[in-house]
Amino acid sequence: MNHHTRKIWNVPEHEHTPIEVFQNRKLYRREFLQRMGTGLGIAGLAGLLTGCEQATKEEIEQAGATTPVPQQDSSIYPAERNPAFKYGRPETEDIEAEKFTNFYEFTGPTSKQAWKYVENFKTAPWSVTVEGECEKPRTFDLDDLFKELKFEERAYRHRCVETWAMCVPWTGFPLASLLKLVEPKASAKYVAFETFNKPKQAPYMESSGAGTWPWPYTEGLTMPEAMNDLAFIATGLYGAPLLKQNGAPIRLVVPWKYGFKSGKSIVKIRLTKDQPATFWNTVNPEEYGFVANVEPDVPHPRWSQRTEWMLGTEKRYDTQPFNGYGEYVASLYTG
Ligand code: MTE
Repeated sequence: MNHHTRKIWNVPEHEHTPIEVFQNRKLYRREFLQRMGTGLGIAGLAGLLTGCEQATKEEIEQAGATTPVPQQDSSIYPAERNPAFKYGRPETEDIEAEKFTNFYEFTGPTSKQAWKYVENFKTAPWSVTVEGECEKPRTFDLDDLFKELKFEERAYRHRCVETWAMCVPWTGFPLASLLKLVEPKASAKYVAFETFNKPKQAPYMESSGAGTWPWPYTEGLTMPEAMNDLAFIATGLYGAPLLKQNGAPIRLVVPWKYGFKSGKSIVKIRLTKDQPATFWNTVNPEEYGFVANVEPDVPHPRWSQRTEWMLGTEKRYDTQPFNGYGEYVASLYTG
């Protein structure tokens, strides 16, 4: 396919994109790893990407809106805010979190503007299968989740490994409450998350081709991490259903870890005996570990993690250990 004939790619940022990203459908793994060496990791072209062109909030929200919206959604949003969680700094403006996103299936390393490429992404109908080491494996439609789980809003900080950060209100439920429904066995030691695998709906997934990136996007937690009250499954953001670019219709949110742990648009959750392979850890294990807790004193091999900047502002803050959530999770890592 000639990608240059596709309207979806026909945007100015295309000029910044290494031409082979678009033309070479056979970017083999060895070549890919060489690129990693030259800096095309999660943050590969971040320097080129911060200057977003002007788009209105309406354009961005319309582009990412999901249709049809499940019936129950109307009664879920806005959910009551859990008062236990505070940002400790100003909330990020909604347009900032909606226009600047990481969603490799749509953009690869070349853009933060996933909202421009989500047009063909179908988020309904959608179901999530929870299986593996559990007594009652089950496939949940979104409506099942709306009926069976108690939804709440949580004001969480989010810290990307690339050093940008945001403070946003997610709507959803603790991951633990979903896992309890399938009755995990004692043999369950890890939880693996898998994202949708539909290249026809996700332009970069399709154009990058087989044998390049380890699609679908996968992530994982240990069982104690997954059962921690902070680990959250979100279906909404800013009091409304998630936009496609933010991981509609359902995503993980793990606020004490770097953002790449929080897989978007999840279709499968598997309880496992062994540590699962994960997307970034497979791509570049030297730079992206499995644990990936926010740690200011541990630099990324290519940059410091000591400070972070808030989306939509000029403000930098000191990075906090566990992204400021040590009181909830530090005990998971002692000994
Ligand atoms: N999930 C999928 N499926 N694909 C991705 O590329 N990027 C991760 C994470 N989840 C990613 C993903 C990264 S690096 C970050 S920082 C967060 O999503 C960003 O979430 P946001 O774009 O909604 O802010």
